[in-house]
Amino acid sequence: MVMLLTGGAGYIGSHTALVLLEAGYDVVVYDNLSNSSPESLRRVERLSGRSLTFIEADIRDTARLEQALTEHAVDAVIHFAGLKAVGESTEKPLAYYENNVGGTLSLCQAMRAADVRTLVFSSSATVYAESDEMPLTEAAPTGRPTNPYGSSKLMIEWILQDLYAANPDWSIAILRYFNPAGAHESGEIGEDPNGIPNNLLPYVSQVAVGRLEQLSIYGNDYATPDGTGVRDYIHVMDLAEGHLKAANAIARASGLHLWNLGTGKGYSVLEAVQAFERVSQRPVPYRVVGRRPGDIAQCWADPRKAEAELDWQCSRGIDDIMADAWRWQSHNPQGYRDSER
Ligand code: NAD
Ligand code: UFG
Repeated sequence: MVMLLTGGAGYIGSHTALVLLEAGYDVVVYDNLSNSSPESLRRVERLSGRSLTFIEADIRDTARLEQALTEHAVDAVIHFAGLKAVGESTEKPLAYYENNVGGTLSLCQAMRAADVRTLVFSSSATVYAESDEMPLTEAAPTGRPTNPYGSSKLMIEWILQDLYAANPDWSIAILRYFNPAGAHESGEIGEDPNGIPNNLLPYVSQVAVGRLEQLSIYGNDYATPDGTGVRDYIHVMDLAEGHLKAANAIARASGLHLWNLGTGKGYSVLEAVQAFERVSQRPVPYRVVGRRPGDIAQCWADPRKAEAELDWQCSRGIDDIMADAWRWQSHNPQGYRDSER
């Protein structure tokens, strides 16, 4: 089976490419490298002992996409490509809608033209309405996202639902990720954000390795056990394996499915920092500052639907996430730039 991964050179896409290659799939990565390095793919090939096809192109180029789908006889698409920086999306809403929503429309049009109807989409727990009731099941109401990034994910979900309603021969999986974190256990591939990281784990590991001075904890006055925000951190390899299971499941029959990919456990910022310090044996200096606009107090998944329907389960815990994040960061202090020089 041939899988095309839009955004496959990025953080989650590269780990998924590895899992797919190891499971025997042929992989075509379609990425414009706007937020990634081709070095991730070289390492994926080395780790798997197999080669993949890389196409450097933009998903908004519908004709190029259609050509790629046809030329490589693609069976299914996993759609990771998109812009994902929440803060930046509030400054550049049009770029986010154009890239994420416009890019997805272009992809669906190319798939229709090439007669490929099996699609796995990277959505996010950010589409859920803020709630005091945890864990979140797939039936929990969606809300009005607090930023254009989140809105773009919800809009794409609506587009895919409408597409399926009109074309029930499509097979679509919408995966709502909670907080992806960690790295492949080899330490060879991992998260390599451009500039100052927005997300907690890359920030913490860059402090630990000496690239950044101090972590700012955004608020300790939330209604949570220690006052800091609580999230469901899912190991990126568990997440990648979830994509393999979802792609297999939807290849069997048409349908539209929603699955949460999370662990079902929430950890506070302070608990996450302590786990990182314990596992890495490195101090992570921090100070508590004011809340970050748009943040919520707590968010964790009820993953039972995905577990039951996909025969999938997270096998890695918070200590594995921290150990693997640290192995990646300490082996590659400057990320992939270390091997690009
Ligand atoms: P990433 O930035 O590492 O990967 C995205 C990839 O898409 C990059 O390689 C980038 O170069 C590529 N890309 C962007 N725009 C493109 C375009 N127009 N054409 C072709 N390629 C393009 O991000 P990630 O963390 O791997 O996230 C993958 C997906 O999962 C994204 O859609 C993201 O919104 C979603 N997601 C991520 C998180 C998270 O915390 N990492 C959480 C929920 C959902
Ligand atoms: N945090 C800090 N300091 C930092 C970074 C984060 O204290 O420097 C805190 C945040 O306030 C939050 C927690 O750490 O309480 C996690 O923050 P992240 O930025 O790592 O993750 P978010 O939960 O804010 O957002 C992530 C993804 C989004 C996605 C969302 C879904 O970045 O793309 O999960 O829940 F939409």
